[in-house]
Amino acid sequence: MKKIDISTQVTQVDFDTELTEQEKQVMIAARKAVDTAYAPYSNYNVGAAVLLENGEIVPGNNQENAVFPLGLCAERVALFSAGTSFPNSKPIVLAVTIASDNKPGFPCGSCRQAMVEFENRFDHKMKLLIDSKDGQVITIDTVRDILPFSFDQSNLK
Ligand code: THU
Repeated sequence: MKKIDISTQVTQVDFDTELTEQEKQVMIAARKAVDTAYAPYSNYNVGAAVLLENGEIVPGNNQENAVFPLGLCAERVALFSAGTSFPNSKPIVLAVTIASDNKPGFPCGSCRQAMVEFENRFDHKMKLLIDSKDGQVITIDTVRDILPFSFDQSNLK
């Protein structure tokens, strides 16, 4: 038998003093997007924004449906929108925030899998910024840190 240990490092930083100006702008875009989320069924509003290498910041928020499984999370709305409008620009930062006080709101497993696809597609790590309480932000260098053993194109070969 062989045991495999996995360790993950996440960092907590202060929004005002420890994020770059550009990172702050991405989180501000996510916080703005949270206001227009369409979440009448869960009342759990989520905002996201992706910073691309070309400098564009693409927002997204959760979009629910009366047929519940059709709804889509904020992170994927933002990423798919970026993939539509700027298919050749690498996503480098993804910020996520929730309207509820129950912060931080970590991305769901499906969104983590979608993020892995974007990292692979662009062969580039995407830094995650998860809004937290008291002006703090959780930072994660790559989605792989929070989705070990992920499924990717190499599995299909
Ligand atoms: N949601 C997101 O937008 N992102 C996540 O990572 C977790 C969940 C949304 C989906 C649904 O509209 C609501 O939050 C409650 O699950």
